[in-house]
Amino acid sequence: MTLPPDLQHTIMVPTSLPDEGPLLSADHDPIIHLRSAGVSLIVDLRPDVPVVLHWGADLGPVSGSALEVLAKTGGTAQLHSAPDAPRAFSLLPTEYEGWSGVPAISGHRAGTATTPRPKTVSATLEEAGRGGGQIVVHLLDDLSRLAIQLTIGLSEHGLVEVQTTVTAEAATGEAPYDLTGVVAVLPVPARATDVLDLTGKWSRERSPQRGQVRDGQHARQVRRGKPGADSPYLLSVGTPAFASRSGEIWSMHVAWSGDQQWFVERLPEGAGAFSAVLGGGELLRPGEVRLRAGESYESPRVAFAWSDEGLDGIADRFHAQLRSDHPRSTPQPLLLNTWEAVYFEHDLGRLTELVDKAAEIGVERVVLDDGWFRGRRDDRAGLGDWQIDEHVWPDGLAPLVDHVRRRGMTFGLWVEPEMVNLDSALAREHPDWILGPSAGLGGSSRHQYVLDIAKPSAFDYLVASISSIVIRYSIDFLKWDHNRELHEPVHRSPDGDRPGTRDQTLAFYALLDEIQRRCPGLEIESCSSGGGRVDLAVLEHTDRVWTSDCNDPVERQSIQRWTEVLVPPEYIGSHVGPPRSHTTNRVSDTPFRLLTTLFGSAGVEWDLTRCTPDEIEQLSRWAASYKEFRGLVQSGRRVHADLADEQTLLHGSVATDGSRALFCWARLGSSAAAQAGRVPFPGLDSRRDYEVRLREDAGPASPHQLAGPAWFEATREHPVVVPGVVLTTVGVTLPTLNPGQALLLEVTAVS
Ligand code: DGJ
Repeated sequence: MTLPPDLQHTIMVPTSLPDEGPLLSADHDPIIHLRSAGVSLIVDLRPDVPVVLHWGADLGPVSGSALEVLAKTGGTAQLHSAPDAPRAFSLLPTEYEGWSGVPAISGHRAGTATTPRPKTVSATLEEAGRGGGQIVVHLLDDLSRLAIQLTIGLSEHGLVEVQTTVTAEAATGEAPYDLTGVVAVLPVPARATDVLDLTGKWSRERSPQRGQVRDGQHARQVRRGKPGADSPYLLSVGTPAFASRSGEIWSMHVAWSGDQQWFVERLPEGAGAFSAVLGGGELLRPGEVRLRAGESYESPRVAFAWSDEGLDGIADRFHAQLRSDHPRSTPQPLLLNTWEAVYFEHDLGRLTELVDKAAEIGVERVVLDDGWFRGRRDDRAGLGDWQIDEHVWPDGLAPLVDHVRRRGMTFGLWVEPEMVNLDSALAREHPDWILGPSAGLGGSSRHQYVLDIAKPSAFDYLVASISSIVIRYSIDFLKWDHNRELHEPVHRSPDGDRPGTRDQTLAFYALLDEIQRRCPGLEIESCSSGGGRVDLAVLEHTDRVWTSDCNDPVERQSIQRWTEVLVPPEYIGSHVGPPRSHTTNRVSDTPFRLLTTLFGSAGVEWDLTRCTPDEIEQLSRWAASYKEFRGLVQSGRRVHADLADEQTLLHGSVATDGSRALFCWARLGSSAAAQAGRVPFPGLDSRRDYEVRLREDAGPASPHQLAGPAWFEATREHPVVVPGVVLTTVGVTLPTLNPGQALLLEVTAVS
């Protein structure tokens, strides 16, 4: 971004803290206070490397001498058996500063220059940068001859974003600098005692795992060449027992779709005036980044969020930021995906019938999934041959696409461009395009291998073949899949095999961008064996994510709850499947399956031609309610009640002005308690009155009781007015449902 000159100030800073006396003497205040959306970030530029004095609650318009006092009152004690000067903890921590934890920058030059000592040479404050201001610090390290640019921004929605660029300043002929790690680190206080991150597997992505912050590291390394089903996703530390609606929380997300590292680290001596650090960045393989004179490495953006309103407060910041950085076409169309209806059995007649049923219930977009291209009769062959299979589609896709359009819907297509089956013309013609060591390829996964898309010839082939199909049929939407991990992801080259995950990740982004440049208006969904590639960087290049192959609503409620801790509902694909789930084999009631999708970007993945007339009727009513509520859900705030009984859920979407909301009351399994008691509704305005109305459009929920509560039964007949303070603070009684049941409550402000 180019800023007007009056918004840029170059601050020349002294190279070190004075030993004693007043800490401040400069024309420009060298302690920078950025404020935005209830967050303060205060950075002291006077030490050799900038130091964070505060990251958390907005301190108000404090400046000048108050900031000096803030700095002075954060001085640390002289410890026994410790460095003779108190240890510092900077934004680029090093052993030189006495930091014995993970260093911000690590590497070597042919085995030397392993102890970096960066020093600030200048800093620029862009007051309008990222909404809340941005500090760009230039540092030089004479020892390793690296120039480092550290950019710390506070976004308009209160996210702290850190990006680091490292440039080698080597003399010609000198060995390159082998960069082995660059991480962004921010300190967190001692009251952040609990840690939470996510893990998971295929069909159960984003499972929460909790623990205590302890001395040492809670560290996650992602070596799958993608975030994976077990992505750490959002690493949070917070006050004891922090929850959806309570607690002070500091969270971090590494916005990158390749290998990554994430950690919480605590040393007994602390981190300056703080207790522990949150750190993250790209995980670099040995030899992956070798910087020759003048070459640079640009780290991914690492986003940090603070909130004292629990995880919902953290999610609010990420949702608002993504919505303003990369707004999606809203409302999101109701979609039908053919996968669970026909799998690989593509047949124009059958698909036409499916399209007709889709149009009948109110679907707005049809997506033809895997199986349309040459040789693709199952998952053993065809990947890489992005030409329409003339045996299955003798007249091309036109008869289907035209039919979809005639029925007033848009058309989408499945692709998996980064992958190849050995049984394909592409693999036979270009075996050298497959990523893997010269000693021979390792094992296949889902019978497939990875294309080395950083090779210009492979990249160009993919751009040409995919975009020509998109252009030929004016395709509106691509479901972009990625069904295996990257193992031994090395480029074969005459100089030997070189690590290729970073190149592959950058080429993936470039491929998405180039295809979208050639096909304006094309929307893309990021899928990876379900939800294995969901991160904020992929969402800079795509439009929504496929959340999971699991449509079982019991599982899906949890998968969506934890996906939306970072990503807002309109980016989260959520489809209704048939009664028996193809991933868990569980049979669930249709209303529960249907209403689970309303809190995302909804769709159908079910053979509608086999549905009963009652089911088609239910689906039509559900489609109408999706259209009624999507404006609210896809722009509102997601809220989640903290309930003692883990088998019950109350979550909702509340309009940002508090005027309207849609809540889901769900029971996953049975529990010992017969009654839930009063349940407070989160996120509403306690000063207003609300009408509460039961919405059974998709069908009734089955109760685990004879009747009641009476007030609730009344909402079947007419809306019941409840003061906001009762709803939010005291709560209202709700029925006990049978396991695997849910109902919807519409809440509308009347005052
Ligand atoms: C994995 C995806 O997650 C599924 O939705 C489906 O598109 C299959 N791939 C197709 O092969």
